[in-house]
Amino acid sequence: MKVQEIRQKFIEFFQKQNHQYVDSSSLIPANDPTLLFTNAGMVPFKDNFTGAANPKNPRAVSIQKCVRAGGKHNDLENVGFTSRHHTFFEMLGNFSFGDYFKKEAILMGWEFLTQELKLPKDKLYITVHHSDQEAADLWEKEAKVPSDRIFFRGDKDNFWEMGDTGPCGPSSEIFYDHGQKYSDPEVDTSECILDDEDRYVEIWNLVFMQFEKFKIDGEVKKRNLPKPCVDTGGGLERIAAALQGKYNNFDTDCFSEVIKEIENISNKSYRDFPHWMRVVADHARSATMLLADGVLPSNEGRGYVLRRIIRRAIRHIDLLGVSKVCFFKLVAPVFKSFGGIYPENEKNRDFVEKYLRLEEESFRKTLSSGLKLLNQEIENLKKDNKDTLGGEKVFALYDTHGFPVDLTEMILKEKELSLDSAGFHSAMDRQKNRSKKAGDFSASEDSQKHFYEVYESYGNTKFLGYKSLNSKSKLLSAFKIGERTALVFDQTPFYGEGGGQVGDQGVISIDGKGFEVLDTKKPVHEVLIHFVSESVDDFSIGSEYVLNVDKKNRELTMANHTATHLLQSALIETLGPHVKQAGSNVGPNRLRFDFTHPEALNSSELNKVEGLINQKIRAAIGVTPSIMSKDDAMKKGAMALFGEKYGDQVRVIDIPGFSIELCGGTHVLNTQEIGHFKILSESSLASGVRRIEACTNEGVIDFLEEKYSEFSEVEKLLGVKGSKVLSTISSLKNELNSKKKELASLKDQIQLVDAKSKFEGAQKLKNGMDFKLLEASSDEDIRKLGDLFIDRYKNGLAIILQNKGNKISVLFKSYKGVKDINCSELLKGIFGALGGRGGGKPDMAQGSLEASKKDELIKLIKQNII
Ligand code: SER
Repeated sequence: MKVQEIRQKFIEFFQKQNHQYVDSSSLIPANDPTLLFTNAGMVPFKDNFTGAANPKNPRAVSIQKCVRAGGKHNDLENVGFTSRHHTFFEMLGNFSFGDYFKKEAILMGWEFLTQELKLPKDKLYITVHHSDQEAADLWEKEAKVPSDRIFFRGDKDNFWEMGDTGPCGPSSEIFYDHGQKYSDPEVDTSECILDDEDRYVEIWNLVFMQFEKFKIDGEVKKRNLPKPCVDTGGGLERIAAALQGKYNNFDTDCFSEVIKEIENISNKSYRDFPHWMRVVADHARSATMLLADGVLPSNEGRGYVLRRIIRRAIRHIDLLGVSKVCFFKLVAPVFKSFGGIYPENEKNRDFVEKYLRLEEESFRKTLSSGLKLLNQEIENLKKDNKDTLGGEKVFALYDTHGFPVDLTEMILKEKELSLDSAGFHSAMDRQKNRSKKAGDFSASEDSQKHFYEVYESYGNTKFLGYKSLNSKSKLLSAFKIGERTALVFDQTPFYGEGGGQVGDQGVISIDGKGFEVLDTKKPVHEVLIHFVSESVDDFSIGSEYVLNVDKKNRELTMANHTATHLLQSALIETLGPHVKQAGSNVGPNRLRFDFTHPEALNSSELNKVEGLINQKIRAAIGVTPSIMSKDDAMKKGAMALFGEKYGDQVRVIDIPGFSIELCGGTHVLNTQEIGHFKILSESSLASGVRRIEACTNEGVIDFLEEKYSEFSEVEKLLGVKGSKVLSTISSLKNELNSKKKELASLKDQIQLVDAKSKFEGAQKLKNGMDFKLLEASSDEDIRKLGDLFIDRYKNGLAIILQNKGNKISVLFKSYKGVKDINCSELLKGIFGALGGRGGGKPDMAQGSLEASKKDELIKLIKQNII
C-alpha cells in the first residue's frame, strides 16, 4: 500500500467516526515558548486538552508535520544509525477533547490497523501503563487481544508528556513484529519480549491525557485536566514500512524519490552507501519542511538547529564525494513524496531552494576556512607535543568561524587527538551568561510574577487607543520594577509595545500634578503597563487619573507603521513572493523592516520600492481596520506572521488594492497622512535576511535638512556652489592621485641617492667580486637595496641585514649568471653553523635568524667571504 493511500484511508476512516479533519499546523509552534518545534500531532491542540480553548467539534483527525531535533524529544543523533528514527516525520493522529476515552480509542485504533489497513493480528502486541488494568481489560475483553500479547510497563515506556510542562498521561502502545530474523540476541527479553527493539517496533500510541504539568516559582506542579482526553499518534513512515514489507523506513516510498535523486547527484548507489544517503534523505526532508514553514538558518534557537541539520547533510554529501552545491536539488523530490498534502510547500519552493543554496555556499566556505585554522591548531599541538585541543580554541572555531564542534572532534579523532570538552562547555556558558545579562526586564522572573498577579486580579486592560488619545482611567495597581514604577489602569489610550510598534509615551495627571509616561509595554496577554520614574508612594490606587498620549509621537509612529505595510507589499511586488517579514521596529523617527531575500538590493530595485510607496501615498488611499474571522482574513489573502498565534477573530489592516495584513498596531486613516517615504539604508542582517531603514513625514524633512546642512558645509569647504561641487571633487581626486605618484617617484630617487652613498667603500673579494654588507629598514627596502647594488656592481655580492625585533632577516644577492658565487650555498653554510632557517637560488637567498646571533653572523661572513 502506497503511503498516499495510507494517508487517505486514515483521514476517511476517522472522518466517518465524526472527527473533523484539521490541516497540519506549522512546524513552529504558535506562541509556545516551551517548545522548539511541533514534535507531535497533539501540539496544536494543547489548549483544547487543558480547557483553555473550547473547540466546536470535540473530535479531530490530522496528519501533522513533526520535527524531533533539539529539545525534549530529540532524534537528531540517531538518524542514519537506526532504521526508524527521523528528524522529520508525519504523525497520524485522532483526538478526543473530553469526548470519548479509553474504550473507543482502543477499538477505533484496532479496527483501523487490522481491518482498514489489514495488518495481521498475530504480528501485533500491546503495552499498557502498569497502573492501568482498565486499559488491559479493554484490550482483552473488547478488542479480543489474547492476554499473553498484553504487557505492563512503567513510566519510562508508557507515560507520555509533551515537554517539561504541558498535558500528559499514561499511554498504551501497539507494536509490530518484523519477525525473528531481525531479533537482537544481545537483548535481555526476560521481562518483556518487546524490549527487543530491533524486532518489535511501536507503530501506534494512545495517550490517555489526564494531567497538565505547569511551572510555578520554578517548581513543576501537576493538576488534573478538566476532562479526560485522548491523543493518538501513529508514525506514518513506520506504518508504511510494516505494510510494504520493509524493515527499514528508508526503504519505503516515503523516501524513494529523494534517495533516487541522491543517487543521481552522487553517481553512487544506495546499496553501497546506505548510511550516508539515509542521513542526507532524512535531513533533506526536515531542512526543506522547516524552511517552508519560515524557519531560517541562524546562530540561535530554531534557526541554529536547522543550520546544524543542513550542515550535517552537507558533510554527508561531501562524504559521498560531491563537492558542488547541490542540496537544494532535493527540494523537488521531497515535495513530490508528500503528494500535495501540504499545499504551502509549492508556494515556498523558490524560497526554500534559494536558502538551501545560500546556506550550502556559505557552509562550504566555512568548511574550507575552518579546516585551515584547525589544521594550524593541529600543527601547533604536535609541535608542543600535546594531544588535546583547548576548550577556548574549540569554542572560538565554533563561535567565530561557525565550525561545528562534532566536526572538530571527528577530525581530531582521525589524527588521534581529542578536545577539551569541559573547557568548551565552560567557554560556552560564559558566553551565555554574557548574553543573559544583556536581556531586558521582561525576562526577569520576579517582574513576570507581578504581571501575572495583575492579570489574575484584573484581567486585560481595555485599550482605547485606536480611536482616542486621552481618557479618564482608574488606577488599579502600582508596583516597582527595577528603577521604575509600573502602573496599571482599568482602561488606557496608551499603546503597549507589540507587533514591532514601540510603546506610547505621554503624561498622566491628577489634581493638576503630571507624571511623564516613559514607555508602555504589554508583557502578559493584554495587560498594559505604563512606566514612570516617580515612586510607588506618589500614586493612589483607586483614584481617577487623566491619561494623555503624546499626540505628535503617536501620529509619526502611525505614519511609519502604515508605511511599513506599504513597504512589505512593495518589496514583494519588486522582488518576488519569497519576501517574508523577519522582524520590524516602528517608532516616531524611523522604521526598520527585516525580510528574507538572498542578496543586496541594487539601486534600481530600491528606487522602484520607494517610487511605488510614494505613489500609494499620493493616491490618498483610505486605510480601513476591521475585525473578522481568521478564515475570512486568510481568504482575502491577508499576510500573517509565521508562528504568530492569532485568535479566532483577527484585526485586519486593509490598504485596498495594495496591502492587507493581520495587525494589532495603530495606523493612519489615509495613506496621504504619511507625507513622503524615504529609504535611509539597506543592509545585510544575517545570511539571507536584509534590513531596510526608512523614514516618513517629518522624518523625511529632518533627514533632508540634515543632508542639506552637510552639503552646505561641503560647499563652504570647497569654496564652490551647487553642481560645481561634483566636478571640483573629481578634479581634486585626480590631482591627489598624480601627487601620490609624484611622491612615490621622489621617494625612489631619494632612496637611490641614499643607497649609492651606502654603497661607497665596497670591498674587492679575492675572486675579484665587489662586496658590501648593508643594513635595511623594511622588507621593501631589503629587496630594493639588493637590486640597486647589483645594478651598480655587475660583478657584485651584497649581504643585507634587517633587524626585526628578536629576529633578523638576511638577504644574499649576486648578479644573475655570476658563476663564482652561489648565494643559496653560502646561506646554508653560514646558517647551518648558526641554526637559522631559509633558502633560495644561486643568485638570491633569504633567511631569518635569532637577533642575538648578529655578531656571530658578521664574524662568520668576514671569515668565510672576505
Ligand atoms: N503524543 C503522543 C506521541 O507523540 C501520541 O500522539 O507519541
